[in-house]
Amino acid sequence: MKPLRAVALACAALAVLAVMALVVVWGISEREMQRPREAPLVALRPATAPDLAEGGRMARIIGCLEGCHGRNGEGGHGEIEGIVRHVAPTLSQVLPDYTDDELVRLVRYGVKRDGKSALGMISYTFWALGDQDLANVMAFLRRLPPAPAMERTLELSWRGRWSLVTGEWKVSSEQVEQDRPQWGNLPQPTPVERGRYLASVTCSECHGLDFHGNALEKAPTLAVIGAYSEEQFRHLIRTAEGLGGRTLDPNMRWVADAPFADAEIVAIYRFLRQYHGFAP
Ligand code: HEC
Repeated sequence: MKPLRAVALACAALAVLAVMALVVVWGISEREMQRPREAPLVALRPATAPDLAEGGRMARIIGCLEGCHGRNGEGGHGEIEGIVRHVAPTLSQVLPDYTDDELVRLVRYGVKRDGKSALGMISYTFWALGDQDLANVMAFLRRLPPAPAMERTLELSWRGRWSLVTGEWKVSSEQVEQDRPQWGNLPQPTPVERGRYLASVTCSECHGLDFHGNALEKAPTLAVIGAYSEEQFRHLIRTAEGLGGRTLDPNMRWVADAPFADAEIVAIYRFLRQYHGFAP
């Protein structure tokens, strides 16, 4: 065979292989997104009737509002750099389609009405929510004034599809760790227990369920708490300024709008100190 012809054949073979690899990655990632998921429909059992004011406060703290779905639930754009860009829909448009039990399943298990997994819904963080808090939040969100529907879009990059294949990133239902305690349904007699609950339903979204950081979210391990005094930590949560007045990454700036009570900030601080092995 002439050398030129051999090179041309090799190139053609490589091109065919590359296309086959893309088809496989596309197929596996598509299956991850489309296949039906098992998750129970379980009714909430809150101790008291929903508290709308507390529901509104928690909706801001856990990020239903002032977060992915926009400031007031009107819908918003979410992104994991290089992986996915998508719209978190207008809450007043999508909630009426869901019964309460279906909504609980979506929030806790990441499974949509159609039985497929959500994408980008932070159910792994919401798993720990207690029944009362979730009932409060849902009752509040169902009373949001109607807003025009934001167009739903999903841009999943090839890197994103590849990360679904390797498990570096997962669809929402696969991110939930169902063997973890639902801290919100357990007693919280001490500030440390209260802090564990609040950190679990907020900080874990970006800093990881084990609070050791998350490379995809570019969020460091919360062992950095060792460098913070209680007053410096309070300043960070209230202003989103780190040590030395450093303005933090936009993904961390939500804290300045979160209506945490002072005692809750102290509780999170104490929990994170204890969890990471620092003196109280
Ligand atoms: C939406 C994502 C997100 C959530 C939720 C989040 N963080 Fe962060 N956090 C980040 C990112 C990103 C950084 C890196 C910021 C930087 O270095 O500019 C960060 C940095 C930090 C730092 C280090 C600041 C420094 O001095 O470098 C602390 C402490 C921190 N977060 C605490 C928390 C606590 C406590 C919570 C829960 C109440 C929380 N974060 C929730 C994204 C998040």
